[in-house]
Amino acid sequence: EKGGWPTFMKKEISEEPEAVGKTLIGRIVDGAVHLPELESFDGLLTDIDRIVVLACGTAAYASLVGKYAIESWARIPVDVELSHEFHYRDPVIGERTLVVSVSQSGETMDTLLAVQYAKKHGARTLSICNTQGATIPRESDAVLYTHAGPEVAVASTKAFVAQITALYLLGLHLATIRGTLDAPAVSALVEELQNLPAKLDQVVETSGERIADFARWMGDVQSVLFLGRHAGYPIALEGALKLKELAYIHAEGFAAGELKHGPIALIEPGQLVIVIVPSPRDPNSLHPKVISNIQEIRARGARVIAVAEIGDVEVLPFADEVIRIPLAGPLFEPLLAVVPLHVFAMELATAKGLDVDQPRNLAKSVTVE
Ligand code: F6R
Repeated sequence: EKGGWPTFMKKEISEEPEAVGKTLIGRIVDGAVHLPELESFDGLLTDIDRIVVLACGTAAYASLVGKYAIESWARIPVDVELSHEFHYRDPVIGERTLVVSVSQSGETMDTLLAVQYAKKHGARTLSICNTQGATIPRESDAVLYTHAGPEVAVASTKAFVAQITALYLLGLHLATIRGTLDAPAVSALVEELQNLPAKLDQVVETSGERIADFARWMGDVQSVLFLGRHAGYPIALEGALKLKELAYIHAEGFAAGELKHGPIALIEPGQLVIVIVPSPRDPNSLHPKVISNIQEIRARGARVIAVAEIGDVEVLPFADEVIRIPLAGPLFEPLLAVVPLHVFAMELATAKGLDVDQPRNLAKSVTVE
């Protein structure tokens, strides 16, 4: 039920904070991660030498964000594979591969077939799923449910942040049992996770009206590019996918470092570019590099909307608009930065008079190959 909201999409974006919060419930005890769901794997989690994550669409972008965190914390190589590409190319998997599938519906045929293939070839399978008792979790060795609640709008929003949360819990669990992070380090990261819902609330509250405002003046925009780096890169991909799906506007996401390897040729006067700017506070920050990307595209006439943390004043002279997000660690910023992009796609679609809950040609769960 919409409960007073004009659309399910608007309601579900407003539920992003809660989707993260509910996915954490019962899974953090005294600053440590507690995942009884994974007990059946016994020693496997210390023995695996590789993780393959299988997913499609938005779930694949959530998985890519997860890759940055799991590799950094648990020091295990993680490959994110589009499910429909995976089992048609004789992939290398075996008994020391943990195959994690990520699916909101748990019914996506492409992902189900990939999981079945992985099982047949000896891999152990973990399903990250938002739908109790769906086919993919039933066919997997273990399941870690996300608790985003039922998602009705066709385009996925709150499930996306819940999927990242589940992958982060998995990463911290692996880091703990494999000894790659000590207890204080885990507890500091756990605290960042627990702080996310309140920060997300802040973003939901502050980004809505401003974005609706400028969505109105850019109603006729033909193409939008999204740039991000590090874990902001999959967020750029997600922002572009949502805009295509909801507003039927051509959009592409790029890793900002890739710009000079080709995409900068697309920049001409008036091109709208949305840039996810990393925090300048981290000593290894990619902030200066992204600022210089913004300068390069502005010099060629691009209009830039920056998503940047509160207090980042260096970005001001270079951006036409700045959307602010609260301060968070480098791996936690992406969860905050995605909300304005979801709002942006929804508002542009609304400004064009489109049905944001039921975009054309799409189905909520894709149960055919
Ligand atoms: C995009 C979107 C799709 C789904 C994809 C996978 O907004 O909703 O890209 O993310 O079809 O669906 P699930 O997660 O149900 O496997």
